[in-house]
Amino acid sequence: MNDNDPAPFLTELFSLKGFRAAVIGGTGVLGGRFVEVLAAAGAEVGVLGRSRERGEAAVRRVQDAGGAAWFCAVDVADRTSIERAAADAESRGGIDILVNAAGVNSSTPFDELTDDEWQRLLDVNLSSMFKAVQAFSPQLRRRPGRASVINISSASSGPPLSRVFGYGVAKAGVNNLTQYLARELAPEGVRVNAIVPGFFPAEQNRALLSEERIADIVRHTPMRRLGEASELDGALLWLASPRASGFVTGALIHVDGGFSAMTI
Ligand SMILES: NC(=O)c1ccc[n+]([C@@H]2O[C@H](COP(=O)([O-])OP(=O)(O)OC[C@H]3O[C@@H](n4cnc5c(N)ncnc54)[C@H](O)[C@@H]3O)[C@@H](O)[C@H]2O)c1
Repeated sequence: MNDNDPAPFLTELFSLKGFRAAVIGGTGVLGGRFVEVLAAAGAEVGVLGRSRERGEAAVRRVQDAGGAAWFCAVDVADRTSIERAAADAESRGGIDILVNAAGVNSSTPFDELTDDEWQRLLDVNLSSMFKAVQAFSPQLRRRPGRASVINISSASSGPPLSRVFGYGVAKAGVNNLTQYLARELAPEGVRVNAIVPGFFPAEQNRALLSEERIADIVRHTPMRRLGEASELDGALLWLASPRASGFVTGALIHVDGGFSAMTI
């Protein structure tokens, strides 16, 4: 370590140069940020999402900043589509880092939730991660000690929250799935962790975040504000880098201004 210049030490700790990543839901607000952060740390990043227009725009943003990225269309509710995306990544050399960041929300009250909507919430928010890890695991298993899966959970996965019934149940499943996958894949050198974000303005929660709702959330957040996407950068990079978090698996990392550490 050099006492005068921390840059070489920090670069060695967090650099993802030579790594390949895929961000499922990389077309969204938080996923888009994850794409930019992984690329800025040196990784080549696959942007996987439903919207070609948004995906290609994300790729251009990375390329304009001097990084490397590619787009592949995927519908995470469809196993065949996920398997096609995994095959695309494989044809580019395979990935070391998989970020599962697709999600849909719903404020439909418990009594009105239909079987179809319930199933959709479970499919997109939870089963998608099981299917994606299965589809990408041959690539990840070929990189023992380097491979990292990062699932994006939610503060709604903890003690129940109003107005997100099915979404919260699915995200509770994400926490449990993360720990089961960590157990399953640890012997093969693949780490599996989750980031548990609090509240960050995005597309999927735009309709839910009324002024009144924001006031309720902020009242329950010790730091008294919503989060900004950039405040997830550190947790993401830490979990992605084997040098920084090589002994961390099955962890649920809360980034929520203290929301889940508080009762009343
Ligand atoms: N924003 C927050 O406050 C917050 C809090 C906790 C957790 N999260 C989670 O973070 C992740 C990113 O969400 P966001 O807040 O950036 O929202 P967002 O709506 O901006 O992004 C979600 C992305 O998921 C994609 N998606 C939805 N259904 C899909 C499908 N069937 N196939 C492929 N892609 C699909 C959307 O197209 C979009 O790109 C989600 O898992 C969300 O649940 C967000």
